[in-house]
Parts: sequence; structure tokens; C-alpha cells
Amino acid sequence: MLSKRMEEALNKQINAELYSAYLYLSMAAYFDSISLDGFSHWMKLQAKEETEHAYKIYGYVYERGGSVILEAINKPPTKWDSPLAVFEDAYKHEQKVSEMINNLVAMAREEKDYATENFLQWFVEEQVEEEANADEVVQKLKMVKDSRNGLFMMDGKLGQRK
Ligand code: FEO
Repeated sequence: MLSKRMEEALNKQINAELYSAYLYLSMAAYFDSISLDGFSHWMKLQAKEETEHAYKIYGYVYERGGSVILEAINKPPTKWDSPLAVFEDAYKHEQKVSEMINNLVAMAREEKDYATENFLQWFVEEQVEEEANADEVVQKLKMVKDSRNGLFMMDGKLGQRK
């Protein structure tokens, strides 16, 4: 059985994961608006992954006898100055999510809820990958700078994400 405090914190994380999905879908929409289909494809897949993260926590909460209460999802930003600005925001966002996951792990330890601590390990590992993926694109966009050719090449590459 989950403690009330842990249940509420996991519910908040469901909201944060759904916000992440919303944020990445908004980034996809920005890329579609400037005809960078590959970048948009990458973001749409990312949004889908975030929804899966929310479902994973949802399933866990019920498995442990808790309840899911869905709250309103904040409106994400809709405009960016450049593809680099988008990915810098995505990277910053993932760092914030990592901090949230770490706080959940700390809470689970405080509560001596070792099952939840164990469940969260998957997210701890996932965050390493999430930060690295966003940062990799940031670094490449910095190398490409204002080169249109470079940007189109990257668009083709990101469009291959599976
Ligand atoms: Fe669900 Fe990108 O963290």
C-alpha cells in the first residue's frame, strides 16, 4: 500500500510526464510550422514516450492500491527563436524531470517504501538517456550553426528515429 504522501507525489509525476508530452508535441508543431519534418518526427516520438512514462506510473499506482487523480495540464510554450532554442529548452526540461525523479526516490527512501524506490530505478536510468539524447542534438545544432545544409542533413537524420 502506498502512503498518501507517496501517492500524491506519484500523481504529480503523472501530470509532469503528461506535461512533457504536451511540451514535445508543441515543439513538434513548431518544427512542422517551419517545415522541418524530421525534427518534428523526433519530437512526436518523444511526446509518445512521455505518455508511456505517465501510463507506467499510472499502472504502478493502481498496482499498489492507490488512486489516480488527473489534474489540469499547463499550457506549454508555442514559439521558439530557432531549432537550437527548442533543443536547449528540451535539455533543460529533462534536467528538471531528473531532479523530480530524484526527489521521488528520496521520498520513497524516507518512507521506507522500497518497492517504489525499486520501481523508480527504471526512471533514473531513463533520465540519463533522456538528457543525453537532448544534449546530443544541442551539440550538433551548435556545430551546424547557420548552415542550411547542415540543418537539412540533421532533419533527415532525426527523421529516422524509431
Ligand atoms: Fe519522462 Fe523525458 O522524461
